[in-house]
Amino acid sequence: MTAVGIDAMEIWTGKLKLDLAETFAPAQGDDPGKYTKGLGLHASSFPDVYEDIVTMAANAAHRLMERKGLEPEDIGRIDVATESSFDNSKPVSTYVAGCLEQVYDGDFHHANKGERKFACISGTQSLDDAYNWIRAGRNRGRAAIVIATDTALYARDDPGEATQGAGAVAMLVDEEPSLVELSTEQGFGSADETDFLKPNQQFPSVDGKRSVNVYLARMREALDDFASQVGDIHPDDYPLIPFHTPFPGMVRKAAALGYRHIIRGTDVEDLVAEEIGHQPMREDFESDDEFRDAIREYTDALTETERYQDWYADTIDPTLEISREVGNWYTGSVHIARAAGLKHARENGRELDGQQLLVASYGSGAQAEVHAETVVPGWEEEIAQLNIDEQNRKRYDLSFEEYEQIHDVHNHDTEADVEEFTAPESEFVFDGWGRMGERKYRYVE
Ligand code: HMG
Repeated sequence: MTAVGIDAMEIWTGKLKLDLAETFAPAQGDDPGKYTKGLGLHASSFPDVYEDIVTMAANAAHRLMERKGLEPEDIGRIDVATESSFDNSKPVSTYVAGCLEQVYDGDFHHANKGERKFACISGTQSLDDAYNWIRAGRNRGRAAIVIATDTALYARDDPGEATQGAGAVAMLVDEEPSLVELSTEQGFGSADETDFLKPNQQFPSVDGKRSVNVYLARMREALDDFASQVGDIHPDDYPLIPFHTPFPGMVRKAAALGYRHIIRGTDVEDLVAEEIGHQPMREDFESDDEFRDAIREYTDALTETERYQDWYADTIDPTLEISREVGNWYTGSVHIARAAGLKHARENGRELDGQQLLVASYGSGAQAEVHAETVVPGWEEEIAQLNIDEQNRKRYDLSFEEYEQIHDVHNHDTEADVEEFTAPESEFVFDGWGRMGERKYRYVE
């Protein structure tokens, strides 16, 4: 079977930065440690006045096409995943194609375009769509561009405000990929939940604490379902496990649950049992509450073991390096986690050819998905092309007053006349409104 997967990727961050410890925490009267240690976040990215989900998506896709030497006729699909869409009919992918057609001679008239919605997991679902399209032999030798783009804003003073972020990830999905090959096996954990939703409103209604538990519950189901496809999973099977990362503290919880789950009944459980005993079993407790307390105690002890901490430092922590600096990008979040893990591996000379990543996606509402990806020889050259560190360094550092202004600029219900903080260069920018209420874009040389 021909390999299908991600051939290349590009990341575009919003050009503004809110420093959580230096700027947000003092204004909120909070200890900075709540953000840097508790949530595990240092900063959030925001779009400048002339940026939005279309410009970030088009700029990431443009760079991807330029770098891979592609023309519009090489692309048979443009799939955009977002939960920040501003139109209930016209998909963001049409705007993106319109932008790209300003800078290429050809057009995308023969490319299938769409927009996927299921909270943060739709980025991974769009990858599935592209994968299935190629596997079904409907691509006529062409590749797909999959873009996850979001401006993740919460209402001011919502507990989620510290986890905001904005950016886009563009991925080229093709046969014989240069980065990772996607596996056919998938595990799902999906249920009708009301933890985080936007019923015809821009900012989410969130039950934050519950959303954390729903994430964990659906992730455990997805892991079980995945194991039912591939057989028992061992922690040593995967050198990196990128999770959906609304904030790194969430992944800290998910990783502990996942590790406990996958070591059950393995040699690893026996080894840690010498220090902390075996995992509690339901039949040994009179009530669910007692059992839950015992599990909590066991998990806390597990995360204190050297074995767990070494595993976490190698397998999970590297995947959080970009998220820590940019916040939650919703649909793009798990894809920047993959990029961060691979980038860290390249920079530290880790050998990953032929090894598998376990990728764990999640979207509120709610659904988790787990699949494996095989790292393809040549991945280092691909990942070396990412310039996200440079982009992050160049962001304009907002004062708290400027942050309040930019939040208003991107709030659909407020009018805000704010000057741009940065100067656009060789990129698409928002250029006002058309006669039917459509957004207009132009390329700035
Ligand atoms: P909160 O209630 O303000 O924060 O918001 P907290 O008081 O729970 O503190 C957070 C952590 O910091 C806690 O750690 C504190 O102990 C610790 P934990 O006990 O959880 O391990 N802490 C400190 N640590 C060190 N020094 C200090 C300090 N102070 C406190 N001084 C909440 C937290 C997650 C509720 C909020 O951020 C929120 O509502 N976020 C939005 C929802 C969210 O991100 N949920 C995650 C799961 S759902 C998901 O991932 C889907 C999503 O991406 C959307 C989609 O799919 O579309 C959101």
